[in-house]
Amino acid sequence: MDLEYRYGETIKTDRQSAHAELLNTMLDRGSCRKFRKNAVPRDLVNLACAAAMAAPTKSDLQQRDIILVDDPGLKEEIAGLVSGQTWVADAPSLAVFCGNNRRQRLVHSIRGHPFANDHLDAFFNAAVDAAIALSAFVTAAEACGLGCCPISAVRNEASEVSKLLHLPDHVFPVAGLAFGYPEADKPAISMRLPLSATVHENSYKDHDIAAVISTYDDRREKAQPYGQQRATGHFGKASSYPWSEDKARQYALPEREDFGQFVRSKGFNLD
Ligand SMILES: Cc1cc2nc3c(=O)[nH]c(=O)nc-3n(C[C@H](O)[C@H](O)[C@H](O)COP(=O)(O)O)c2cc1C
Repeated sequence: MDLEYRYGETIKTDRQSAHAELLNTMLDRGSCRKFRKNAVPRDLVNLACAAAMAAPTKSDLQQRDIILVDDPGLKEEIAGLVSGQTWVADAPSLAVFCGNNRRQRLVHSIRGHPFANDHLDAFFNAAVDAAIALSAFVTAAEACGLGCCPISAVRNEASEVSKLLHLPDHVFPVAGLAFGYPEADKPAISMRLPLSATVHENSYKDHDIAAVISTYDDRREKAQPYGQQRATGHFGKASSYPWSEDKARQYALPEREDFGQFVRSKGFNLD
């Protein structure tokens, strides 16, 4: 697959570098929502977990954990909470990546020092660490031939998921990850905005973002039209339905409004 297809522009680079195999998996990756039935060997899961936990972590604080959901009944209950997403139930494996600021607070009580950073950054650092670990797990798993789909929808029911997984205070779900052997030989490549708009040199620039988005919309709508439109009851059916219309519709309606309340209920001070 050439990079121009994904980014809509020529990118001067050398794909045939010494690390071509891993790089090519990363460049040609795509989320997987159709899995074969075979279970993923535990050794392989362990390897991906080890790669996830080897990822960079803010100040070496290691504020992220992975919960492997192996119990079939528990997996079914979590899948039931994201029932619109059948690939969660169908995937042979499910993990939930959590931010964990609890361990750090326990370290303070063990060492007898006050925890003097009870503010938004405590939550933010743990959330970022969990996201980085998720990304590393996906990279490792995909390099080993697995397919993955992150599931932020577990946060739609954050309290329920939290109860099911017995998450204590200061531990919270960031995203689930459905994974297994993919049904298709190759993943579908989802187009991205051009690097010329998303990679900035020295300072942030909006460029002509409306024109950039319009070109991206056209390119993407021709090659990868949406199978269905979002919230037609609310917005009607559009004759043209590009990416920007889908994204604007998505956040024109409230989503996860109670998430802040959930995070506060886990003991975080978000000020
Ligand atoms: C944090 C995060 C949460 C996501 N949550 C979901 C989800 O709940 N359901 C889903 O089907 N895909 C989910 N995705 C996958 C994205 O939809 C997908 O990455 C995006 O459409 C781009 O497609 P690609 O990964 O195939 O390139 C999530 C991805 C990330 C990074």
